[in-house]
Amino acid sequence: MSYIPRSFFLILFTCIAFLHACDERSKSIPDLDFTTEWLFHNGETPGAEVPSFDDSGWRQLDLPHDWAIEGPFSRESNLRTGGLPVHGTGWYRKHFTVDRAHAGKRVSVEFDGAMNNAHVWLNGEFIGNRPYGYIGFEFDLTPFIKFGGENVIAVRLSPEDISSRWYPGAGIYRNVRLKINDPVHIPQWGTYLTSEVSENKALVNISIEVVNTGEAEAKAMLETSLFDREGNLVATTVSEISIGLNGRTTEDQQFEISNPVLWDLENPYLYTAVTRVSTGGRLVDEYTTEFGIRSIEFTADEGFKLNGERVKFQGVCMHHDLGSLGSAVNYRATERQMEIMQSMGVNALRTRHNPPSPEMLKVCDRLGILVQVEAFDEWQIGKVINGYNKYFDEWHERDLRDMIRRDRNHPSVIMWSIGNEILEQNEEDGWKLAKHLSDICHDEDPTRPTTAGFNYYPAPFENKLAYQIDVVGLNYWPLNYRMTLDNNPGMIVYGSETSSQTSSRGVYHLPIEPMERRETHQVSSYDAIVGPPWAYPPDVEFEQQHKVSESLGEFMWTGFDYLGEPTPYAGRDNSTPGRWSKDWPSRSSYFAPVDLSGFPKDRYYLYQSNWTKEPMVHVLPHWNWEGMEGEMIPVFSYTNCEEVELYVNGKSAGRKVKGVDYTEIPAEFHEFEKGMYKTKYRLSWEVPYQPGSVKVVAYNGGEAVAEKEIKTAGDPAQITLSADRKEIAADGKDLSFITVRIEDKDGNFCPLANNLVKFNVTGEGEIAAVGNGDATSQASFQADNREAFNGLCLLILKSIKDGGKIKVVAESADLESAMIEIITN
Ligand code: GAL
Repeated sequence: MSYIPRSFFLILFTCIAFLHACDERSKSIPDLDFTTEWLFHNGETPGAEVPSFDDSGWRQLDLPHDWAIEGPFSRESNLRTGGLPVHGTGWYRKHFTVDRAHAGKRVSVEFDGAMNNAHVWLNGEFIGNRPYGYIGFEFDLTPFIKFGGENVIAVRLSPEDISSRWYPGAGIYRNVRLKINDPVHIPQWGTYLTSEVSENKALVNISIEVVNTGEAEAKAMLETSLFDREGNLVATTVSEISIGLNGRTTEDQQFEISNPVLWDLENPYLYTAVTRVSTGGRLVDEYTTEFGIRSIEFTADEGFKLNGERVKFQGVCMHHDLGSLGSAVNYRATERQMEIMQSMGVNALRTRHNPPSPEMLKVCDRLGILVQVEAFDEWQIGKVINGYNKYFDEWHERDLRDMIRRDRNHPSVIMWSIGNEILEQNEEDGWKLAKHLSDICHDEDPTRPTTAGFNYYPAPFENKLAYQIDVVGLNYWPLNYRMTLDNNPGMIVYGSETSSQTSSRGVYHLPIEPMERRETHQVSSYDAIVGPPWAYPPDVEFEQQHKVSESLGEFMWTGFDYLGEPTPYAGRDNSTPGRWSKDWPSRSSYFAPVDLSGFPKDRYYLYQSNWTKEPMVHVLPHWNWEGMEGEMIPVFSYTNCEEVELYVNGKSAGRKVKGVDYTEIPAEFHEFEKGMYKTKYRLSWEVPYQPGSVKVVAYNGGEAVAEKEIKTAGDPAQITLSADRKEIAADGKDLSFITVRIEDKDGNFCPLANNLVKFNVTGEGEIAAVGNGDATSQASFQADNREAFNGLCLLILKSIKDGGKIKVVAESADLESAMIEIITN
């Protein structure tokens, strides 16, 4: 390939830092939480925008809200989007007042996202619309607001059928705020912080936009103070500005910070910038921006560097749903997902295939996880019949610019992806759009590189599309990294989407076979390759990432199972692109190492064994093979230690050494021949089954450092409950995730139990959802009971605004019941 890439021989995106984890205002009128006491109606309702419309029969609820997760599951609904009713028309109305004292101020409403095709009216007047469900937007309400009187805001959402390749949810599923500003104020996403880091100091620049919607020219004082994490004042800068009538100005303020504490993955240290705007000596706005100081660098030879240190992406792709909670944003549920990811060794996230919730970026800023924010799954050429391509021409520039303005202050964000597997890869002039989008990103934020995920090879190189972006992502071409680098000297490459292995938690099929389909619609956790034709075992990627040291790393598909796309039970209906109807009841993905409820599958430990250093060892399968006594069972172990010894019923079955002993698994993949694949990342034995136990002991330098044992369980006899947090906030939002385990009378885990468990919840909390990680279950997520799936199910409790105790009693026929109490305050 002769074309030499434009700019990416060495892309040095130094010194970009900052974070706007939350644009909080503590001016005279703080932004108002506008999420409570909404009225909702599911279905088209002519005239619902009219203030006098009779909404007395509508359901009252609080936002964020996802109406599709309420179900029911139906084979009539597209299984690709979860078998849930994600399309239709939904109306939301809210009656509210704004104090007469605020007359003359600017009133606006800010949505973090609404799914989708939002149309908004205030007091019967059309205010605006926004088709893309993943983008935040703000509308000025001032012209039609009645100060001191009743106002009615009405929102109509009309998500279309077959408009997504995964579960999008439906409703006002992200947060909403009402803002009351003085005419002179800092607008939405109005600050932009960057910093240059050198030895012992950082130069921080804050670019501040100020607007004046008033009736006269205004002079204003801008004072920005930086505080460290402990709240100590670090520096202050003051400047004077003047803004014309209906004007807008941008002021840059600089700071020098000596010996800054850098934001990094071990210590995600955040500073705060507080910008105060005053006119005539009166404080009119106060805008708080959390930020981090760090440098990022992308190099062809040494990959990605954070603060000068190499970090290889141990990344995951994630869709935005929160399992049985659906798409309705919840900070704690998001944080729990990423905590589980971190415990697997994850250090990076690719937000598939759309802008994430603001909460997700806040979580990543705080946990120390790098993020690639992705804008689109489609450009002009659609993948499903009602996809974003319908809106692309009119909205893409606005959506892309807004995404970057919203997210460019987060220290966790390191790249902008302009698209995933966009079909323009195959078009001769597809590069023109790629260049246009990449240019927009650079225009909004010159501090981060652009990227995209390419699944065709070599099409995007031949038509030069790949050369329009700074960092090239390959989806499912691990054996081509080296060739891509060799053919394109100076190119920066990584695995933007990898593996796509599938499995079901706790399911083992013998003998181990590739590409099998079962009546049960489950997939074996031996993790021999089962997936779409482009899928391959994680081991292949581990090996390539090791061999191609210049690669930035990988983003595995996907960290958590998600609703929709139940490959390999895809059941495509070829008459309608994007509709999957034939493989009922499969309704959610099997791709992840962690199931939809957040319970680790065996594959979680395979990643952990390659991505973490703290000694660990894992063994599979379960040891309940009644009726197979004497038959040979393959036993696999995953470890990050040097050696593992397997004991069966107390007797050694031999030691295996990592890097010396290999395991063969059947595999088939578009980059290699069907056959046996030899992996050094798994140790294995074949042993005759006898009830009792299997135990693995891991050694480093001859010393036992980790062990795990699985015992044959007797009949299910009892329930145990354990909470991820036993104390939560009494704010009506916080969650406690309760793991429900079925055990025998001796406390052994019952790996095949499917008992139905009923929850009796009393006190200051309620059930937010239930689940069990079974991708084929059609049971409602919003029930007071759940069947265990292979021994486990999940109860999610939500606090109410009164503090106290939540008491849960879990009962099941023939099992000893269990009780747990959660404190809320
Ligand atoms: C990729 C695609 C993802 C998902 C995945 C499943 O090609 O980008 O969205 O569909 O395949 O393997």
